[in-house]
Amino acid sequence: MTYVAVGAVGGFAALRYAEGRWAEDVEFAAYGAATPALRMLDAETAHNVGIAALAMGLGPRQRVEDGKSLEVEAFGMKLSNPVGLAAGFDKDAKAFEALIKMGFGFVEIGSVTPKPQPGNPKPRAFRLPEHGAVINRYGFNSEGHESAKTRLAAYRAGAGAKTEGHSPRGLLGVNLGKNKTTPEESAADDYVVGVENIGEYGDYIVVNISSPNTPGLRNLQGRKHLSGLLRRVVTARNNTPGASKTPVLVKIAPDLTDSALKDIASVVKSEKVDGVIVSNTTIARPEVIQSHTHGNEVGGLSGKPLMEPSTKVLHDLYKLTGGKITLIGCGGVASGEDAYAKIRAGATLVQLYTAFALQGPQLIPRIKRELEACLARDGFESVQDAIGAAHRR
Ligand SMILES: Cc1cc2nc3c(=O)[nH]c(=O)nc-3n(C[C@H](O)[C@H](O)[C@H](O)COP(=O)(O)O)c2cc1C
Repeated sequence: MTYVAVGAVGGFAALRYAEGRWAEDVEFAAYGAATPALRMLDAETAHNVGIAALAMGLGPRQRVEDGKSLEVEAFGMKLSNPVGLAAGFDKDAKAFEALIKMGFGFVEIGSVTPKPQPGNPKPRAFRLPEHGAVINRYGFNSEGHESAKTRLAAYRAGAGAKTEGHSPRGLLGVNLGKNKTTPEESAADDYVVGVENIGEYGDYIVVNISSPNTPGLRNLQGRKHLSGLLRRVVTARNNTPGASKTPVLVKIAPDLTDSALKDIASVVKSEKVDGVIVSNTTIARPEVIQSHTHGNEVGGLSGKPLMEPSTKVLHDLYKLTGGKITLIGCGGVASGEDAYAKIRAGATLVQLYTAFALQGPQLIPRIKRELEACLARDGFESVQDAIGAAHRR
């Protein structure tokens, strides 16, 4: 028995350093096989175990370079593929290096709040695997700026040192949140201080005003607040050494009226925001979800049921901004076909969280392979050529 265990550990260690497609496939399969075991734990514990393992440097590593057709340019930076990890998975910037190595084109850490805060009482995350969905009401549990800063600074001082102004591989996004105790009127202060404290470590910065789990947060998307808030954030960015050229993005909810979306489009243009992430989780509960044991839990619904509504908002926003603002499509991506639909609707990049959490790391190479096949099938040489294709029919 001992020999078997020693052999298995030895084999695994040897695999870590092996190169080539076979080693990549075997390693992804091995970690994929561990995913069902994590599902035996409750959602938050499983997540914490995953983050702890990744923070220790465990996790499969991409060896083979991405295909040429997946290459895409966003905000003046080249990415080897457009598939990113959405915010909320690595809230405290502990695991992003392992996640980048896994083959994501970009990884977004956060939301990070200025001061540490515990978030909502547990339980606060629920799987709805039959629907490929999750409901969460974490409420920005965060170790705060100072804690994240230590790790982000170490990364930039070492393996992640910026070359030509950005990450050497896989871009890093820094997603900013606000503390629960900060009143709505002074919410902008939390984002400004976020830019000043940790903005310089990101290849892009995100103003998250769309989580449904912080009371009043989504009001910041309204005309009354948005323009002033974004003006202050963009000014802070311009005046922060090391961050003055870093793109600022705003992340919006999928539950917006047509007129609210129009307002956002106009403010984003007038305040010269560089991009929009569409979207966060939804407070809507489709009928099929309502009948699930966890379907009526309070919080944001993510995953498959969000694919269609968030892609519609993305499509509408691309139209409203005339394709002039870089959009990141997020919500329900679980296949290459889903990623392709977001790109056709107007996304330059896509992100996912729920499908990755439910299905494990093997999903990443699979989505990329499927996306390559979609592009080839429809005669697109690259992702770049397919952006907004649905609007050109
Ligand atoms: C458990 C969980 C926690 C999340 N936390 C954050 C967060 O802190 N900040 C944020 O901007 N989005 C957060 N999100 C939203 C995701 O980034 C993403 O916008 C949303 O889940 C839709 O993508 P998906 O359907 O691929 O999951 C969270 C999502 C989940 C499921």
